[in-house]
Amino acid sequence: MNQDDLKRAVARAARDHVAATIPAGAVIGVGTGSTANFFIDELATIRERIGAAVASSEATRKRLESHGIRVLDLNEVTELPVYVDGADEIDAGLAMIKGGGGALTREKIVAAVASTFVCVCDQSKLVDTLGKFPLPVEVIPMARAQVARQLAALGGQPRLRDNFITDNGNIIVDVHGLHIDDPVALEERINQMVGVVTNGLFARRGADLLLLATPDGVKILRRGA
Ligand code: A5P
Repeated sequence: MNQDDLKRAVARAARDHVAATIPAGAVIGVGTGSTANFFIDELATIRERIGAAVASSEATRKRLESHGIRVLDLNEVTELPVYVDGADEIDAGLAMIKGGGGALTREKIVAAVASTFVCVCDQSKLVDTLGKFPLPVEVIPMARAQVARQLAALGGQPRLRDNFITDNGNIIVDVHGLHIDDPVALEERINQMVGVVTNGLFARRGADLLLLATPDGVKILRRGA
């Protein structure tokens, strides 16, 4: 089984989970990235069961619409029973690093509205300690240098992501070399830096459920279990 086979398998499991748990006609939140793309393709097979979707990026919106799935603006929606997305790293407490694809801010906003966050990953994403994957931070362009200095003071090596502008018109600084012992504290600390829009730690609101693809099948881990 290669990595794409694992992603496809976990995408199917997520589709089955959504089909079994949401009320018919409910609106669901959809993440961004290669695993989320497999999920969108699977979602097309149950498009009659879901009312519509809220997308966490322009790329996801386009892919949903290409399958004939209606996409709503988040401001038109009061509740989302579920949000399904991938992660760049996830730990046993279901805290994550996200934003490798640069969609972290919209992902965090949509996830904040959802009752349940279902993370879909292949087993390579499960780690003991977050931080080997560089932590993405979305920054207002004029704050780049001063935010980078503060990130360096935390012990990381900030690097501007080349030739990349987010859907919100901002830049991404990737912080290398962090060993994240307390993801909630670091998430809050970076969010307080003036000029930071969002950072890619999803720890205060981590995943509720992890569907983890392994060669032996899709394993299910629940937060706090
Ligand atoms: C997008 O900004 C990210 O948060 C993705 O959800 C994350 O990078 C996982 O992507 P893959 O499924 O492509 O690994």
